Amino acid sequence: MSAAEHEFVIAIDGPAASGKSSTAKRVAERLGIHHADSGALYRAATVARLTLDGAPEQWTPESVLSAAERVTMPRHDASFEVRLDDSPLGRELHEAAVTMLVSLVAKMQPVRSWVNGQMRRCAREGAIVVDGRDMGTAVFPAAQLKIFLVASPRERARRRLLQRLDRTPLDEEIAAETEALTQRDAKDAAQIQQAPDAVVIDTTHLTQEEQVERIVEMAVRARVSR
Ligand code: DC
Repeated sequence: MSAAEHEFVIAIDGPAASGKSSTAKRVAERLGIHHADSGALYRAATVARLTLDGAPEQWTPESVLSAAERVTMPRHDASFEVRLDDSPLGRELHEAAVTMLVSLVAKMQPVRSWVNGQMRRCAREGAIVVDGRDMGTAVFPAAQLKIFLVASPRERARRRLLQRLDRTPLDEEIAAETEALTQRDAKDAAQIQQAPDAVVIDTTHLTQEEQVERIVEMAVRARVSR
């Protein structure tokens, strides 16, 4: 896609639990532009496929794509909201079964093409922050600003648990979650792509507001210098 086909795109990529989606949402709010989460589309396709028969080993790209026809992503306030049969998907996207099976779905090339098409359609509606694994490479190679977020596996695990448990996690809980995240990183390795022109931000020692602030500053500069 050429730069001219989209107005302004900020692409935020990075590994699981690096804070991409929450950061992308805040950056979009601060800039008064839209936000779309590509991981939520892979998750929605997985939720849709789970409502049909068939063991996951037998899932074909065709059957996932046909289930995904029930998934839409209309604009809702500043974000593009993922819906199944026109009902917004929320917690369902993060159920354990979905998190376990979504890597399988995300490896299917026809599903990737479907997600990429949806994301490009969102970007045609106006300036946008998108997040995922390959937004700055496969989907928006001409994005005006590309960010690659990283954080140590232990810190990512701590943040994820804090969010999930709503209390300070114990050391052994952090150790188990770090192991689970490392395994997810390995499963997603082929999909995680760092664009050569991406700005890498290590958020291990940053607060969310600090990382949002850095990206907003870069975005303002990128927008002005266009
Ligand atoms: O960011 P997340 O955990 O919601 O992503 C869910 C899954 O989708 C995960 O297995 C990685 C995959 N994914 C991908 O392959 N490419 C993207 N652009 C976004 C997510």
